[in-house]
Amino acid sequence: MTDIYAQIISFDWERALLAYDLNAPGFVEAEIRETGKTVKSVEACGTGRLVLENLPAGTFLHVTFRHPGGEKELVFTALPPPEGEMTGQFALIADPHISTKDENRKGRFFIESASLVRDALERCAGLGIACTLWPGDITNAGLPGEYALAAKVLKALPTPPLLVPGNHDHDPGAWKSTFGPRRGVYPLPGGGSVVAVDTSDQLLHEDDAKVLRDVLRRDGKVTVMTHYQFFPSSDITHVPPEKTMPLNIADHAALLEEICRTPSVVWAGHQNILSVTRAGRAVQINLPQIPQYSCGWLRVRRFSNGDYYTFEPVSSEVLRQWSRKAGEEAASFYGEPQWRGAYRCGKFPQSGNFFIGREA
Ligand SMILES: [Fe+2]
Repeated sequence: MTDIYAQIISFDWERALLAYDLNAPGFVEAEIRETGKTVKSVEACGTGRLVLENLPAGTFLHVTFRHPGGEKELVFTALPPPEGEMTGQFALIADPHISTKDENRKGRFFIESASLVRDALERCAGLGIACTLWPGDITNAGLPGEYALAAKVLKALPTPPLLVPGNHDHDPGAWKSTFGPRRGVYPLPGGGSVVAVDTSDQLLHEDDAKVLRDVLRRDGKVTVMTHYQFFPSSDITHVPPEKTMPLNIADHAALLEEICRTPSVVWAGHQNILSVTRAGRAVQINLPQIPQYSCGWLRVRRFSNGDYYTFEPVSSEVLRQWSRKAGEEAASFYGEPQWRGAYRCGKFPQSGNFFIGREA
C-alpha cells in the first residue's frame, strides 16, 4: 500500500499531532526514536490522529509511522522551550467563508462552514482563548443570510472578535450593522497592539498607511492584520504576485521598506497557502483557512522569549481528508493546481508551527 497520508500537522515544544489516512481499515502506531515511546491507535478506522506527548524541546525528532501496508518516516524539530509563564494567547482565524449554500465546491466546505467555525470556537474555549482575530472573508458572498449566520456563530465568543473585511464581504452596510468598524488598532493579549487594515478592495488606503507609519515611529515595529498580503510569498505561485497584494502597494514602497527594517509582523488572509516569509527583519505569515484544506487556524501563545505559533486543525480528520482529496480531484477536473493538498500546505508543518523570538 503506497497511497497513504501521514504527516505531522501540529507541534510545539512538547506535543505533536500526527494525522493519517490509509484509505482502508487498519491499526497504526508511531514510534519516536529519541524517546523510545510508541503511541498506538485504539481503533482501526483508517483515518485519524495520534497524539505524541512529552517530547524533548528544541530537538530534531524522527517518527516512524507504521500501518498495515508498511511504514513512513516523519521528521520535525520540536520548538525551543518557552521561558516563564505564558503572558497571553489568541487565535488567528482566516477566511471562514461562512455560507448558506447547499453544495460544496473544489474541496471547500460551504454546507459545513458555520459548523466548522463553531468547532474552532469550541476549541478556543477549551484552550482558554478569548481573543480571536479574523483577517477577512468572514462571509462567502456578503449575503444578508450569511451575515446573519456569521453574527449568530460569533456570538458564542466571550469577547467581540477583531475583524477586517475581505473581498468576499460585499455590502458595506451589512458589514457595518453586523460587525461595526472595518479597521482599527486593538490591544493584543500579552502586550502590544495590532493594526487591522481594510484591504478588501485590494487597495492599501492612505488612512491605514498613516496609522501604520505612526505606530512604526512610536513603537519601532508594527503588527498588521490584512486580507491581502504585503509581501510576495515564494510559496504562492499559482497567480502572479501582483494579484495577491494591494494593487497600489508600489505607492507605499517607503512604508514597506520601513516595515522591513523592523521586527514587524504581518498576518495575511486571502490566499490561505500556509507560508512564512521573511522580509528583512519583518515576517509575514499567510494564514490557513478553516473551510478548505489545510482546514485549520493558528494559535499564538506569548512568552517572555517570543511568540509560539501552532496549527490547530478542525477537530475532524475525516473532514480534513475529504477537503484534501476533493481538492486534489478538483485540481485535475478544473485544471486549477491551487487546490492541491501539498501546495496549500506550503512548507508544512514548519509553516504552521514555528517560533518568533522577541527582538528589542
Ligand atoms: Fe479573499
